[in-house]
Amino acid sequence: MRTTFFSLFLLLFGAVSAQQKNAPLPTIIPEPVEMTSGQGQFTISRATRVYAADKEAEKSAKYFIDYFNRHFGYRLALAKKDAGEDLIVFSDRKNGETSGGYTLTVTPEAIRIEGNDGPGVFYGMQSLIQMLPTRGGVLPIIGAVTIRDYPRFEYRGMHFDCVRHFFPVEYVKRYIDYLALHKMNYFHWHLTDDQAWRLEMKSHPELTAQGSTREGEILGLYPGTYRKRPYGGYYTQEQAKEIVEYAAERYITVIPEIDIPGHCMAVLAVHPEFSTEPDLEHKTAQTWGIYNKFNNVLAPKPEVFAFLTDVFSELCDLFPSQYIHVGGDECAKKWWKESEQAQQFMKEHNLKDEEELQSYFIHYVGDVIAKKGKTTVGWNEILEGGLAPDAMVMSWQGTSGGITAAKSGHRVIMTPSGYSYYNNLQSRNQRQVTHQGYLPLDKVYNYNIIPDELTPEQAANIIGAQACLWTEYFPTTGKVEMALFPRLSALAENVWSQPEKKDWERFLRKMPDQFERYDLWGARFSEDFFRMYDLPYYDPTTR
Ligand code: ACM
Repeated sequence: MRTTFFSLFLLLFGAVSAQQKNAPLPTIIPEPVEMTSGQGQFTISRATRVYAADKEAEKSAKYFIDYFNRHFGYRLALAKKDAGEDLIVFSDRKNGETSGGYTLTVTPEAIRIEGNDGPGVFYGMQSLIQMLPTRGGVLPIIGAVTIRDYPRFEYRGMHFDCVRHFFPVEYVKRYIDYLALHKMNYFHWHLTDDQAWRLEMKSHPELTAQGSTREGEILGLYPGTYRKRPYGGYYTQEQAKEIVEYAAERYITVIPEIDIPGHCMAVLAVHPEFSTEPDLEHKTAQTWGIYNKFNNVLAPKPEVFAFLTDVFSELCDLFPSQYIHVGGDECAKKWWKESEQAQQFMKEHNLKDEEELQSYFIHYVGDVIAKKGKTTVGWNEILEGGLAPDAMVMSWQGTSGGITAAKSGHRVIMTPSGYSYYNNLQSRNQRQVTHQGYLPLDKVYNYNIIPDELTPEQAANIIGAQACLWTEYFPTTGKVEMALFPRLSALAENVWSQPEKKDWERFLRKMPDQFERYDLWGARFSEDFFRMYDLPYYDPTTR
């Protein structure tokens, strides 16, 4: 009798403890489609080997080896074959299923990442990165788990204005790395505006020689804070190629933007003859915003169209991206209204108003881009006056432009400023001077990308979303990161995770780990969030 009881006890205890051995689920941002915890764990030791089953998977394997070495202090060696235990295996199934999808299996014997394609292997690897300890030096023990995952949207973008303030190549790469760590796949690079032209053009070297500097700038919101001191910088084509390559290794496409026909003071500073007022003095802007105060539009002249052919042809040749961004936003029509030459041009070309003239410009560069086999993308104002059928729209003035475009069969990226402009404050406590909108983390997270009024076919035209970081008030990388984090993490979950996997409370519970990762990466962020969202305070000395 005693023995039987004792055996029963052992049996029950054994079952319970076996159950307890199921590893806790990892905290991964963005939340995967499906995670099932298993039993046991895998420890990445100095003896662990990494095996890449093919050339494509090798890219992700090498990225992982570098990341691991940077944060944990030892370099894992590559194995020659997929045999034995203590292996991390990367392979590309090339199975034609959803691009970016992957499965990741952790057992005590091995970690296996199988991607549907190259990006899939990479994203599986990013999930593995998020299963590593959030602090270097802690033993990398990974609980057994099976993850099945794929992205919700094909376009997951982040923009960076490198005009209002200039950021060196090394920092642009770092920014791209932050995107990669969040499974983002498009980097929208804003390269020209009123304040500067920041990309070397072989056909027009004068643009950067004379148009990449300004005499001074306002430092805060008010003109009283003006400081006179030359400010400038630009990217050579070699540097642009280096950035494109760096991004491509991370499965990120760089979409370059040359903003026309407004936002062109830097062009006019170099070529006053391109203006509707060639006799006025034109300079690169030293303040921000469009106030109808400065004439910043291109005039519809033959030499301007020849110029546009040159720069957009060159842009298409330089950037492998299928999408080329033409800006098209905030073009102040007043200057065309007041210009005899522009009015004459409109008459000759049967353009009934200035909206149609704007459309003429966009169609013109659209043709140059199409001849190169590429697709035009522009801000929602490109809808004014009619749009080329294959052009793609970024809806920034709310969602109505995106809705109109989606209904008329155009592809759309949602970037509504109220949910997507990280130049707005994210904490009421913030001392930083910024644009005065308020965009806290929960608003970013809970933004509903697909408007309810679209039919499923129309909704399919919305291929993703993007956030924008305009840098008028962000002269330093520290300030950039205080604006970027933690909102980038919320955006990533919004564009990657399936709607039914979105859960604000769970997201918040994951954030303390994510803050530790930011620290691990050397990213700066405000500690306000612990107070705002009542999170356990993260103190690196106690964790
Ligand atoms: C924009 O914010 N002007 C696109």
